Amino acid sequence: MLKNIKPFIYLLVLCGIVLSLLSCNRKSDPKTLKIGLSMDTLKEERWQKDRDIFMATVKSMGGEIIVQAAQGDDATQISQCENLITQGVDVLVIIPHNGEAMALAVKKAHEAGIPVLAYDRLIMNCDLDIYISFDNVKVGELQATEIVKLVPEGNYVYIGGAPTDNNALLFRQGAMNILQPLIKRGDINLVFDQFSDDWSASVAQKHMENALTKNDNNIDAVIAANDATAGGAVQALSEQGLVGKVPISGQDADIAGCMRIVEGTQSMTVYKSISAIATESAKVAMIMAEGRVVLTNNTVNNNKIDVPSLLLTPVAVTKDNMKEIVIKDGYHKLEDVYKNVPKNQWQN
Ligand code: GAL
Repeated sequence: MLKNIKPFIYLLVLCGIVLSLLSCNRKSDPKTLKIGLSMDTLKEERWQKDRDIFMATVKSMGGEIIVQAAQGDDATQISQCENLITQGVDVLVIIPHNGEAMALAVKKAHEAGIPVLAYDRLIMNCDLDIYISFDNVKVGELQATEIVKLVPEGNYVYIGGAPTDNNALLFRQGAMNILQPLIKRGDINLVFDQFSDDWSASVAQKHMENALTKNDNNIDAVIAANDATAGGAVQALSEQGLVGKVPISGQDADIAGCMRIVEGTQSMTVYKSISAIATESAKVAMIMAEGRVVLTNNTVNNNKIDVPSLLLTPVAVTKDNMKEIVIKDGYHKLEDVYKNVPKNQWQN
């Protein structure tokens, strides 16, 4: 009797081995996960780096990545998101041009069962799944702190970013955390305070021209929200022979901003590691695509919910730590930043 059963048992064991081999094989050859990245713009230098590092990370993890950029147009960005949804992405990653308008894209993605990650800029009034950015209030605080060190009292100009970008509001909030007590004390007089549509350098230049005209060139310090707007303001200052005489902030460590810093026409920038945010976001997107839970260290309220968030740390950069921060991190090359500076004055 036992003798007859033996071949049957052998057959069962064999079947088990074949089945487990098949299932192992299935595990090592999963469906390729598809990530969609919808970008506002590629205009500022940083966004090209964001895109390149994000794409490379997804690919290195075996994922497929589709990127679309909307050139600052809300209707285009919505329809590009719809297109990514139709292409069956597993996760939609959005860098919104307009944080309010893109709530619609989140709704559409959710209707198709696709989770959404907001990259760098928050999407407001919706059930956003996750937000990855920097501590943006801190960015504004770093800008104002650095300028106040140089100009503790006098006439201040604030040139903000795009009012449609929640970050621009947070940068201003951070700057005002530092300036407000000094304004109240009467040390600082905020003589001009405007946002710049679409972070436009030419809008910022016009703002600076207006501020100078209205105050008979009596401006002691400028807080510009990023390097693009700083570039516009520096242009206006140079037309009045004031360049290098009026301290001015920036953000992004754009090559142009870093060059101005070592040349003495811009006082500081804020370095935000693009490599960190792009790599982290790509990894999180892949985890979400697998349907796994992402652990976050923070929440940020978007006027509807507390969005689970990961916030990275920004760093203030001046002439003194340019090499230690921006160059050491491989963001720019020493010879590019110091291109217009005599070699004996390069930072050692
Ligand atoms: C902000 C971003 C900044 C800057 C700006 C203009 O949202 O946080 O780093 O690049 O947009 O694109």
